[in-house]
Amino acid sequence: MFLCCWLALVALIPMTSGTNPGVEVKLTEKGLEYGRQLGMASIQQKLKTIKVPDISGSQEVSPIGKVKYSLSNMQIVDVGLPKSALDLVPGTGVRLSIGNAFIQLHGNWRVKYIKIIKDSGSFDLNVNDLTITTSIAIKSDETGRPVVSSVSCAATVGSASIKFHGGASWLYNLFKNFIDKALRNALQKQVRANQTLFLIITLPFWVVAKVDQYAEIEYSMVSSPTVSSSSIDFSLKGEFYNIGKHQEPPFSPAAFSLPPQVNNMLYIGVSVFTTNSAAFVYNTAGALSLYITDDMVSSPIRLNTRTFGAFIPQIARRFPGLMMKLLVKTVKSPVITFQPNNVTVQATGTVTAYAIQANTTLSPLFVLNLETSVSVQLFVSEMRLAGAVTLNKMDLTLGTSYVGEFQVKSLNSILQMVLKVVVIPKVNGEFLTLGKALFIKTVDKRHTWDSIPALLGEKPVFYPSTTPTNLPLSYYTTRYGDNSHVM
Ligand SMILES: *[C@@H]1O[C@H](CO)[C@@H](O)[C@H](O)[C@H]1NC(C)=O
Ligand SMILES: *[C@@H]1O[C@H](CO)[C@@H](O)[C@H](O)[C@H]1NC(C)=O
Ligand SMILES: *[C@@H]1O[C@H](CO)[C@@H](O)[C@H](O)[C@H]1NC(C)=O
Repeated sequence: MFLCCWLALVALIPMTSGTNPGVEVKLTEKGLEYGRQLGMASIQQKLKTIKVPDISGSQEVSPIGKVKYSLSNMQIVDVGLPKSALDLVPGTGVRLSIGNAFIQLHGNWRVKYIKIIKDSGSFDLNVNDLTITTSIAIKSDETGRPVVSSVSCAATVGSASIKFHGGASWLYNLFKNFIDKALRNALQKQVRANQTLFLIITLPFWVVAKVDQYAEIEYSMVSSPTVSSSSIDFSLKGEFYNIGKHQEPPFSPAAFSLPPQVNNMLYIGVSVFTTNSAAFVYNTAGALSLYITDDMVSSPIRLNTRTFGAFIPQIARRFPGLMMKLLVKTVKSPVITFQPNNVTVQATGTVTAYAIQANTTLSPLFVLNLETSVSVQLFVSEMRLAGAVTLNKMDLTLGTSYVGEFQVKSLNSILQMVLKVVVIPKVNGEFLTLGKALFIKTVDKRHTWDSIPALLGEKPVFYPSTTPTNLPLSYYTTRYGDNSHVM
């Protein structure tokens, strides 16, 4: 349930104040309205499962005297919630109002009077004009954990009518008024008691989500959400950590804010702090390395000592007829920067070349130092996040040679080709995977990336950032929003 996802995002998250967020999420009135539509279907389902408690009592009915009655096995047959509204309550949270709702119940009746007369049958109850109004506050409790609570809840039943079947029904229909009243009271109480349950779905504790074998992302809130008349704004930590150890990176988040627009349903701003914390984690875990083998370079150029021997004759001479393998790895955390529409990754690493001996032993040939910069232009293609990577720069210098002196420059074109054919697509893929992971874990862990556009109706849009420190991603829908941000 969309609403509950959002509310759950607020709940159960420890608070640390005084820190800038890594990720900002803005849920606008339009988003809330869309959430209401999805949420009502879920509430309707839940209402159907309400267990109505048995009712029993006694009543003086002339001319019979005292009548003992009981109503049991009550089942909700139908529920309708034709009118509902979800409004923002600035400074507090949200208010849900349900009007004109109806419930149809079927159950069994049983009466006993004049000591010996017993009778039973079934009945149908129609409750109309049910009104429920509840305000949900978003605050933090004394431990600094935000909680969602129902501050007020009012339920009233407009009218109820009951019809008895079986037994001497004609007789009981005479005194149905008081039973009607008893039922109405019971129902009113029940609806009220369960209000909080409808709205607060207790989800498992999820402040930290695993991204993959190396990283997890923490999206606790750094401050209480701000509720204004047009949106609810969440400031999330949005920090990647190595699994199992919370090592802080040598940098901290800078302040940033989302653009003031509220035309779309949902706005998400991701700061460079978040992406750089990911780079830090993966580099520290040694995960930013890649072995490149001949089969990965699907090109007429083969990754063997013959090819490299053309540039460095010693290789062909000393290692004739062998396949080669390259190890590309970072030596420090890559640095990610954002420009409007453009994410640039600067990496410092090494390229180690090996000849693969017949017995599979790797003989090192040389180590090159690599300084590179690639830019990713993000866009949305067929409702999916996509990126086009361009190589801005590739500087190679000799680190160590095991094959004597040679001109590094002579390897430029072949290594650039390898970078373009193998490394960059891989970086692109990883980047997008990370982006999706970040998005899903932040927004809603129960939906997959592919179902999110469907969930929200339309597609995600990246639009030019006005500040270089964040990467706003917004969801919009043509039903509610305008398309002016579409690139
Ligand atoms: C409704 O509330 C009552 C009392 O708190 C509880 O016993 C009952 O299980 C609730 N029903 C549902 C469907 O949650
Ligand atoms: C992206 O930014 C980098 C670094 O500033 C720059 O070199 C590159 O030309 C930019 N690319 C585009 C397509 O704007
Ligand atoms: C593998 O072959 C190379 C070259 O013939 C040799 O130098 C090396 O000792 C061999 N290694 C093993 C483990 O057999």
